[in-house]
Amino acid sequence: MASAPSSGTAILYDAPPSARPSLALPTAVIAQAVWHSLAWLVFANAVGVLIAVLLLAPRLNNILIPWTYGRWMPVHINIQLYGWCSLPLVAFLLKVYGADREPIAAWSRPVLWVWSAALAIGSIHWLTGHSSGKLFLDWTGYPRILFPLALLTLWALLTAALRQNWPAATNAKPTVRAGKVVGLALLFVIPFLIYIAADPGIYPPINPDTGGPTGASQLESTLVIIAILLLLPFGLTKRKIPRSWKITLPWFIFAAESVLCLGLGRADVSHHRPTQYISLGSLLLWLPLTPLYYNAFAWNPNTRRWRIAFLAWWSVLIPTGWCLFLPGVLDRFKFTDGLVGHSLLAMAGFTSSLLIFVMVQLLGDDGWIFNATWSFYVWNISVLAYVIVMFIAGWHEGPNPAFNMLPGIARNTLYAIRLILGILLFIASADWFLDATHLLRKKHATLFPALPEPIR
Ligand code: HEM
Repeated sequence: MASAPSSGTAILYDAPPSARPSLALPTAVIAQAVWHSLAWLVFANAVGVLIAVLLLAPRLNNILIPWTYGRWMPVHINIQLYGWCSLPLVAFLLKVYGADREPIAAWSRPVLWVWSAALAIGSIHWLTGHSSGKLFLDWTGYPRILFPLALLTLWALLTAALRQNWPAATNAKPTVRAGKVVGLALLFVIPFLIYIAADPGIYPPINPDTGGPTGASQLESTLVIIAILLLLPFGLTKRKIPRSWKITLPWFIFAAESVLCLGLGRADVSHHRPTQYISLGSLLLWLPLTPLYYNAFAWNPNTRRWRIAFLAWWSVLIPTGWCLFLPGVLDRFKFTDGLVGHSLLAMAGFTSSLLIFVMVQLLGDDGWIFNATWSFYVWNISVLAYVIVMFIAGWHEGPNPAFNMLPGIARNTLYAIRLILGILLFIASADWFLDATHLLRKKHATLFPALPEPIR
């Protein structure tokens, strides 16, 4: 566990009662969102450990019938995406739109529970064998309506928060107001897009050589991530200096790449076409650009280690992701454990460290919950080792698909190492969750102090 810095509670207790809630409230809402996110991470990691056991010893599926590997897999990946990876962004939006401030803050808590309830119902639905089979768009039956409704509930809260905070000093600039209104318009579309895209009859463009995504669609989805990377600092902090080429240059390159992406179209196309892999290679520009950009903003010192971590993962993800797409390499790796390694590098390595960095910045002094040295290293080293193990397994599996299906010494050793690393990841996440629970209790005690009476 990380040790909490000397508590601010005493200071709050010294303050007049009217001052207490307003001092503590903004991060209380953020701490709640962080808690929900971590609760789902711990759950999804426990499921990850279970499916790692089932892959190592497939006979154990017989004991679990009907809740076998195929039922748990959608729970694992959807909860990682819509729970662990999405709720920190919800926290970010609550902060940006001022939904962490009174009186609207009181509504943030039920909205977070609506989100979590939709995920819980979704999990039960997947476990009872209902799945569209579409990775990350597994919403079928009534969860296909309930989850978009949860998103709309959040949207309604953000709209009410913007209305409440419209005259506030933070919204004084017309560009800020316009940005937030445009943001709300875009957020409104997402629930409907999820509903429509979850239809198994709708297919994205396909690479005819591999059955996987095309270079153009890879570039498109990475540009969405880059757009998020570029926007995040504006909602989190201030620039070091008002105008800097370190900020304008990346935006300019982003615009140029978006035009390139539009020019590539959305047709089914092979990764052997040079236009596909060369245009995807344009993402390598972001290796120097992203640290440069983030360096132009002022960050809370608590964020340092996770900022370095997410930038380091990014600088591994972009070149390895591009290399995996190259002709010859993709043909060997596609749909093998190598791609499982790449997914973990992208999500448990890059995305998770980026999100923890965002949460630490949002929590400010309370960000200590993520800063224990041992959990930081256990998480990052385990993810790296996991990725290497899966790359090795994928390299063998490419020319010999039976490699990971038939138990053998090499395969079992790799899968056993994966299991041990998974247990370590689970322990690190459980530690963050316990610290977040402790923090939330402290916030609650500060907001609603019971006996003894505060010092006057
Ligand atoms: C306790 C830690 C974890 C364990 C033990 C674990 C285990 C697994 C296993 C066994 C699979 C199935 C691989 C296969 O079908 O061959 C898998 C897939 C996956 N996991 Fe995890 N996982 C863990 C943490 C995470 C985290 C933290 C994330 C994301 C933030 C994540 C994202 C994914 C994704 C996206 C896939 C699908 C990979 C693909 O099919 O390309 N996992 N995981």
